[in-house]
Amino acid sequence: MIEEVLMSLNNIEIPGYSKNVTVIDHPMVQHKLTILRDRQTGSKQFRELIKELAMFEGYEATRHFQLEPTVVQTPICETTSYALKGRKVAVVPILRAGLCMVEGILELIPAARVGHVGLYRDPQTQKPVEYYCKLPEDIESREVLIVDPMLATGGSAAAAIELLKTKGVPSRQIRLLVIIAAPEGIQAVLDTDPDVVIYTCAIDERLDERAYIVPGLGDAGDRIFGTQ
Ligand code: PRP
Ligand code: URA
Repeated sequence: MIEEVLMSLNNIEIPGYSKNVTVIDHPMVQHKLTILRDRQTGSKQFRELIKELAMFEGYEATRHFQLEPTVVQTPICETTSYALKGRKVAVVPILRAGLCMVEGILELIPAARVGHVGLYRDPQTQKPVEYYCKLPEDIESREVLIVDPMLATGGSAAAAIELLKTKGVPSRQIRLLVIIAAPEGIQAVLDTDPDVVIYTCAIDERLDERAYIVPGLGDAGDRIFGTQ
């Protein structure tokens, strides 16, 4: 069983997904994810792990950033090294749970601006309800990293992507960073926009009847903020 899981982890081949989805299969990421899933893990450690995993995902999600040569004087001599070439970034957490990922991304990209999109899933309909939106003024010219630990039905992420597009952000500038994704959520996001790129630490089995991810980690917002 474990071997099968590891095989699928290391050779993730999900038809139609491979172009758009990166699973961060680094051993440190998978180890931290296991602790995150554990029901015994308390809020403090849970928040720390989400922040660390967000930073690891940030590395992958910025891999396409371009560099330009720059001359630097070391204590020994002058040399040509490389610096980021004019990328402006916005991190957009989906409230509430996405907030916990912001700090990890900002450690990596301190100059990034932060926009907020407030969405919650109506427990009856399981559809996202928007209650807040505040974005950097120049959002359309920025690389946008949407962050939210859970991609379940995909309704919240798809709504956030649509919202950003109405503000003028082209889909090629949008990346979605989640910690755990359900296949249904990935499908829903790519049905909304086949150009969006998704980063996740795991693709889980399925959703249950309440649209919770199985095996997942439970309710991310409640575990982060201790509200249950
Ligand atoms: C959770 C999670 C996502 C959403 C995922 O938030 O953080 O935003 O559900 O579900 P979906 O893919 O089916 O839309 P929730 O609505 O529980 O709000 P919260 O962050 O305020 O707890
Ligand atoms: N939101 C969560 O926090 N967890 C899930 O499993 C699904 C949606």
